[in-house]
Amino acid sequence: MARVFSGIQPSGGMHLGNLLGALRNWVAYQHEHDAVYCVVDLHALTTAPDPAELRDNTVAAATMLMSVGIDPDRSTLFLQSSVSEHAELAWMMECTVGFGELRRMTQFKDKSDRSEFVSAGLFTYPALQASDILLYDTDLVPVGDDQRQHIELCRDIAERFNRRYGDTFVVPAHVIPETGARVMDLQNPDDKMSKSLESAGTVGVLEDPDSVTRKFKRAVTDSDNEVRYDPAAKPGVSNLIGILAAATGQNPVSVADEYSQYGPLKSDTADAVNELLNPIRDRFAELSSDPAEIARVLAAGADKAHTVAATTLERARTNAGLIPRQPT
Ligand code: AMP
Ligand code: TRP
Repeated sequence: MARVFSGIQPSGGMHLGNLLGALRNWVAYQHEHDAVYCVVDLHALTTAPDPAELRDNTVAAATMLMSVGIDPDRSTLFLQSSVSEHAELAWMMECTVGFGELRRMTQFKDKSDRSEFVSAGLFTYPALQASDILLYDTDLVPVGDDQRQHIELCRDIAERFNRRYGDTFVVPAHVIPETGARVMDLQNPDDKMSKSLESAGTVGVLEDPDSVTRKFKRAVTDSDNEVRYDPAAKPGVSNLIGILAAATGQNPVSVADEYSQYGPLKSDTADAVNELLNPIRDRFAELSSDPAEIARVLAAGADKAHTVAATTLERARTNAGLIPRQPT
């Protein structure tokens, strides 16, 4: 059975982009693949979040993954920091990736431009991400479009390591959905939707239905009043069409054909999104009432993940010439 791996940062609430770009595929893959999903709390440390907030966001992220339909009986669900092999292999990945390769990462450029303090961890972030993926002999990595460059770098790292030290890692491929891979901000449709939930341009997965509807009604479009799917020329309208298409499993061009005015497009998109989010909100409320169950799921997931990760790490260590650890 092919192995699927993906991760999500526990930084604030999840939004519609996370759901349509990534999480829906995660859920779909758990049925016929060996799926491993991770809340990447070590990655969150790159921007020094408040500790209490990090703790809350980490538990909320795991709860959210279960709420969208990740079934712990089918998938392995765990926290990155619970499996120390991630940090250990990351060092070997840092010694395999080039400084120049890391410097070209657009996510680093964006994030470092926006921050006062740029940690070394933010720079080497893709090395830790490669470690996450390669530890599980991953075949497929379902992600949104913004992660394409990181996964391609992970492939390059795996191939370089295999050339240097002999066959060690499976070289993974990304899986990016046809619709929903790049959900844009409703107010600034040239920017992707991101985790600032107070923003009028971001739709939170747990946001109440009236607020969701209001945000869609106020979404930025343009003044020519023509419903047409053309992301370059009409980013706002095309974003709404893309969201409606992704939420209802249709093709954006045929969705566009059904509308001649912006008003009905906006209200139908809001309704389709609320229909998608309502059961997730209910399930989140239900699961949140039993934190011990979430903790149990994560502990069992970490145990399963550790078994696979330890074997791969040992192979990488041995191939690179490190002396096996003495059994204790
Ligand atoms: P992050 O929240 O950055 O940890 O991202 C988690 C997953 O959601 C990754 O696979 C991202 O590619 C995906 N994602 C994040 N923002 C968007 C967006 N605006 N549209 C589509 N996918 C997204
Ligand atoms: N960097 C990813 C993001 O910001 C999160 C991530 C960390 C990830 N490790 C991963 C995604 C491994 C896929 C596979 O969205």
